[in-house]
Amino acid sequence: MSSDQAMWEPKYATRAARMQASEIRELLKLLDEPDIISFAGGIPDPALFPVDLIRTAYSDALGKNVGAHKLLQYSISEGDPALRRWIAGYMAARGVPCEADNILITNGSQQGLEFLGRMLLNPNDTALVMAPTYLGALQAFAASEPVYDELSLDPTNRTAASYADAARAGGGDVKFAYVVPDFSNPTGETVSLAGRRHILSLAADLDIPVIEDNPYTTLRYEGEAQPFVQALDVAVCGGIDQSRVIHLGSFSKVFTPGLRVGWVCAAKPIIRRLTLVKQASDLNASALNQAVMCRLAEQEFDAQVARACKSYRVKRDAMLEALAEHMPKGSIWSTPEGGLFVWVTLPDGFDTAALLPKVVADARVAYVPGHAFFADGSGCNTMRLSFSLPTPDVIRDGIERLGAVLKSADI
Ligand SMILES: Cc1ncc(COP(=O)(O)O)c(C=O)c1O
Repeated sequence: MSSDQAMWEPKYATRAARMQASEIRELLKLLDEPDIISFAGGIPDPALFPVDLIRTAYSDALGKNVGAHKLLQYSISEGDPALRRWIAGYMAARGVPCEADNILITNGSQQGLEFLGRMLLNPNDTALVMAPTYLGALQAFAASEPVYDELSLDPTNRTAASYADAARAGGGDVKFAYVVPDFSNPTGETVSLAGRRHILSLAADLDIPVIEDNPYTTLRYEGEAQPFVQALDVAVCGGIDQSRVIHLGSFSKVFTPGLRVGWVCAAKPIIRRLTLVKQASDLNASALNQAVMCRLAEQEFDAQVARACKSYRVKRDAMLEALAEHMPKGSIWSTPEGGLFVWVTLPDGFDTAALLPKVVADARVAYVPGHAFFADGSGCNTMRLSFSLPTPDVIRDGIERLGAVLKSADI
């Protein structure tokens, strides 16, 4: 730690002291070096951004004086009513009948995660998260100083009482279960129907909300779609306003993360309370960006999903084939039906964090060491690979180079 950094450390509140630089964000800096093949960033392929459409949508939105002035003004914290109506239709088509008043627009689903942590967690309360789970969620919740316990999908593994007892021993209560059910970040895996039902039944026993974070759900390349956890709950509890599931959605992976438009879909009392959190935080999401996203969604959503799926599917196939050819013996990896990630587990003895500098130096390839995604820092022999950015040929080349360095590693 530098001396100017050391001067500030004692002054930070506990919640700030717990905020550490994200390994992923640090790694993204590597993308600036042109010869690096990066499987590290989980970011969407910019070649898929509908730039011309977005340009036209901004130009049209600002072209009419009255409309332009309104879109450049502060606006309501809940978000643009037309966009919320479109999202309500999207949710209804996926088994969650709801109204615009069940939707809050957020600056990306990341903001929804941070708000929910703030709204639901007292210090030392427990959040149930899968191992591994989305690192950004761990960071978003960290500000609320929680304890993490592993959300197991094996019903024989843990009882509701054992979760409650562990939370009490840690000085708090179990406050929610968090899950990325479709093509999860980091594993690319999908939670089975039985797994979804188990989460709901555990949540009912503990009387806690379930946060369903589902930004990748439309990027499905094969296989049958599973119902949203929220849809399963709504089907039995009678309606969205009785549901314990809080669903987070996002336009980032389908259109672009640059406009920062995501949403929360939940029972109205939760939306009303979250709206107060949003007001206190940043008043409202950009009215202009919401208007542009609304037009993109209304005009192009299905076509854009089809374009993205077509492109990512080829890349996923290239990565899976190359892994089969080049990974060290004894390695295993996920076979994602969608999303942007493959999760690799190397044989025992490999330490992917320790090996990364060598892989970057010798192979000019980057990945994310898997331990970053475990709340307890385990998973040393795992890594997350994203196939979203490089072309299929570059993916094959990169996996071959990665495999060569791993096979030569002295473990
Ligand atoms: C599982 C998951 N949730 C949420 C987010 C945040 O997405 P955004 O804030 O762009 O909607 C990401 C981004 O990578 C993610 O992987």
